[in-house]
Amino acid sequence: MKAVIYFSLSKKKSSKKIALEIPGKHFEIIPVKKTIKCVPMQMFYYGYLTVANKSVDIVPIDIDLNSFDEITLVSPVWGGQVNVYMRQFLLDNPLKNKKITIIGSCSGGHKNYFSSFDKLIDSSNEIVENIIYVKGIKI
Ligand SMILES: Cc1cc2nc3c(=O)[nH]c(=O)nc-3n(C[C@H](O)[C@H](O)[C@H](O)COP(=O)(O)O)c2cc1C
Repeated sequence: MKAVIYFSLSKKKSSKKIALEIPGKHFEIIPVKKTIKCVPMQMFYYGYLTVANKSVDIVPIDIDLNSFDEITLVSPVWGGQVNVYMRQFLLDNPLKNKKITIIGSCSGGHKNYFSSFDKLIDSSNEIVENIIYVKGIKI
């Protein structure tokens, strides 16, 4: 069984759209705090939380990880890397012995996105595919 775990923030909800097209059981990462709507403020504040490795509160997801052998993670690239909310999900829910696909959504800069998952994903897992979408198009 495959779980598709996603986080999406922008008005376009690019990561959510990508995630919902993938077959599996879908789980959304939801921040506890109300999110900022103003884009420049988003860039500043969420960019800071991400690159400064801050922790955030996410609503606990009701997922029995033992029921899934495949996990697909879909989320936006922030500051060139995994965003603070997907990172928090992986810290709160350590994955073990899974086949993992990592998908990123971005507007062009994703240099450290996949490598930034290295310290969050235990070596018992197998990364089966890394996929990037730039402006909604799969590269
Ligand atoms: C805080 C913040 C940082 C971002 N950093 C990057 C980045 O480093 N590279 C990039 O290409 N896009 C960056 N973006 C743009 C998003 O990755 C892009 O719009 C993404 O498709 C949004 O996905 P979503 O609709 O699922 O939220 C950033 C956006 C925000 C809010």
